[in-house]
Amino acid sequence: MKTKSIWGNPPKRLYKLLNIIKSENRENPEVCIVGCSDGKFLMPFARAEIKVTGYDIDEIALYGGEKLFPVKEENKIYAYNAKFKSKDYPLEKRRVYGVCERLQLENLEAFANVKLLDFYRNPPNDKFDLVFTSCSLHYSKNAEFSLLDKVQKLGSIVKKGGYLYVDYMMAIDEDDYENYPDSKFFRKGQIKNMLSDSFEIISIKENSYPSFEGAHVDCVKDHFHRFGYIFARRIK
Ligand SMILES: C[S@@+](CC[C@H](N)C(=O)[O-])C[C@H]1O[C@@H](n2cnc3c(N)ncnc32)[C@H](O)[C@@H]1O
Repeated sequence: MKTKSIWGNPPKRLYKLLNIIKSENRENPEVCIVGCSDGKFLMPFARAEIKVTGYDIDEIALYGGEKLFPVKEENKIYAYNAKFKSKDYPLEKRRVYGVCERLQLENLEAFANVKLLDFYRNPPNDKFDLVFTSCSLHYSKNAEFSLLDKVQKLGSIVKKGGYLYVDYMMAIDEDDYENYPDSKFFRKGQIKNMLSDSFEIISIKENSYPSFEGAHVDCVKDHFHRFGYIFARRIK
């Protein structure tokens, strides 16, 4: 039985990373997804029979349970406006699968190791061939740690010769530190100076404009994001 993430399907770039790991013929490669949620980015590795570890602080996303979803009659897209105010949508509880249930249903438990762990508070000592995180850095739970500290913790679990991939949130108004505090939101070009000279940057992309995101589970109002991502390799 093939299961689905409540966050939809992973983007093509996830499969590019998976193919890099496969094509290099590494001996028993190990991947780590920091903030694995219900497995959107973890399941493709397990399905490819690549050993994958996932950490998250969200018990429902790991083990299953009920979450609140906004109920919308239509999916409208809005253009960015600094004064934008979202509608209040009615909410309904739905049962969601956790990543552990998904692994069991797809008979993939042998390829995955999922742990309830606050990664930025307690980074493990393990090392991985690929460390991947998508939008975990800005969580309020992690706001007491600087972005530099969090990026370095991610870098610390990458093996020599291994890769680091980070999707991150950027400040929509870079001068506004109240709504976009610097412990949560990156400014343009900031992340590349946070990786030590142990890393070479392979690619970096930072959007100049915010993109619209409709209300969804865990963020039940329509909102805007400005994203960036970095892909780097540990060379020493
Ligand atoms: C934005 S969600 C990922 C959602 C989805 N996979 C996507 O990007 O489409 C980021 C995940 O990081 C997790 N997270 C945030 N801070 C964390 C921490 N300190 N340790 C472990 N997981 C964390 C959250 O619980 C959440 O499940």
